[in-house]
Amino acid sequence: MAKSKKIKLGAMIHGVGGGWEDWKHPDAITDASTNFQFYKHQAQTAEAGKFDFAFIADSVHITENSSPHYLNRFEPLTILSALAAVTKRIGLVATVTVSYSEPFTVARQFASLDLISKGRAGWNVVTSWLSGSANNYSKEEHPPHEKRYRIAQEHVDVVKGLWDSWEDDAFTRNKETGQFFDPEKLHTLNHKGEFFSVQGPLNIARSKQGQPVIFQAGTSEDGRNFAAKNADAIFVGHEHIEEAKAYYADIKRRAISFGRSADDISILPGIRPIIGRTEEEAERKYQETVNLVSIEKAIIALGRPFNDFDFSVYPLDEPFPDLGDLGANSQQGGSEKIKRLAKEHNLTLRQVALRFATPKGNFVGTPEKIADTIQRWIEEEASDGFIIGVGIPAALQDFVELVVPILQERGLYRTEYETDTLRGHLGLQVPVNRNAKTKVLNG
Ligand SMILES: Cc1cc2nc3c(=O)[nH]c(=O)nc-3n(C[C@H](O)[C@H](O)[C@H](O)COP(=O)(O)O)c2cc1C
Repeated sequence: MAKSKKIKLGAMIHGVGGGWEDWKHPDAITDASTNFQFYKHQAQTAEAGKFDFAFIADSVHITENSSPHYLNRFEPLTILSALAAVTKRIGLVATVTVSYSEPFTVARQFASLDLISKGRAGWNVVTSWLSGSANNYSKEEHPPHEKRYRIAQEHVDVVKGLWDSWEDDAFTRNKETGQFFDPEKLHTLNHKGEFFSVQGPLNIARSKQGQPVIFQAGTSEDGRNFAAKNADAIFVGHEHIEEAKAYYADIKRRAISFGRSADDISILPGIRPIIGRTEEEAERKYQETVNLVSIEKAIIALGRPFNDFDFSVYPLDEPFPDLGDLGANSQQGGSEKIKRLAKEHNLTLRQVALRFATPKGNFVGTPEKIADTIQRWIEEEASDGFIIGVGIPAALQDFVELVVPILQERGLYRTEYETDTLRGHLGLQVPVNRNAKTKVLNG
């Protein structure tokens, strides 16, 4: 397998967990979402496992029904700046919404993280699906889905333009001549578009990886096009390998239609491995997570992709209700998938909610079984790697200690970091500064 084709791995560090009742697990640290020691330990564990990156998810609106992790947690760029100081190689990927941020601020924050970490920053570009977000940002209304993706395109274009404000050798810092920078190598963006008006230049230079890496996670038609056009890496959730293969082929095809190469994008499904020394032990650990879940909380969780829709008004044991186009303006891809699954398998509301709250997935079992499944997904072009999510508290450590060595023995995964930037880990080129007259590469 070629160097750049090695399996790519990210670790989602997610405090007390994604579920509403994960914090009740006997091994859970109940204040993990605001516990720096916890984040440091997770990031260092992932780095010991030679992971490409650590990832922090985010959103900007809560209600009293939000999951415990969302109620009280760190802001992504802040926690990653702290983690940059206690890690050396691992990439650091923060989620920031384009619907509720200014490109100048975002460009500056990520450029800062990129310099602090010496070229390890990545930006997970999200459009935010919860309409209540508007209430926290002095906005009258939450932009409709299609408009959010148009805003996203212009936002990302402006941010990338700002990142190229300074050519790589612009800062001469010559005490003898008194020249701090070469004015020929400073470029002003002067952007005036549909949504943003940004003059520039940015007040920070590029890092050794040129620009932070762009991540995305859209599954709708607009989301897929945006990802195929802009993303270096994509997060996605799949139920099974056939669905993953279809998504993989579709995104690579779209990328090519945008004039990119299929290898320019890494597709990284989110998985929640639960590892046991035997199949029975893994199954028992999975059941432990199932037993934590109450139907009341599962119903609340199910509402989330539908903009916190209240499903409790429907009878639990009747067929899943007909929701029309509910969800189309929130998590479009995710909500459609739930409706489709319910219909295809003729499920009741209770069944859908429980299935959504404790997805078993394909990654529960012995370390060998999980390594086999990972290998199969890579070989059959269902993914280029994975983002390891949080199933049970020790899952990341188990994965690093038990599964990673098997992948390494099989020659599928690095035994040492080959580079020290996120771009380098993912096999991506350093982008040439669009304003450079001569090609100058950093690092
Ligand atoms: C692994 C993974 C991580 C995600 N992380 C976030 C996140 O941190 N914040 C967010 O608002 N959305 C997140 N999403 C959701 C996407 O950004 C997006 O809203 C969703 O896929 C729906 O997009 P669509 O409307 O294009 O279908 C994530 C999705 C996946 C699969």
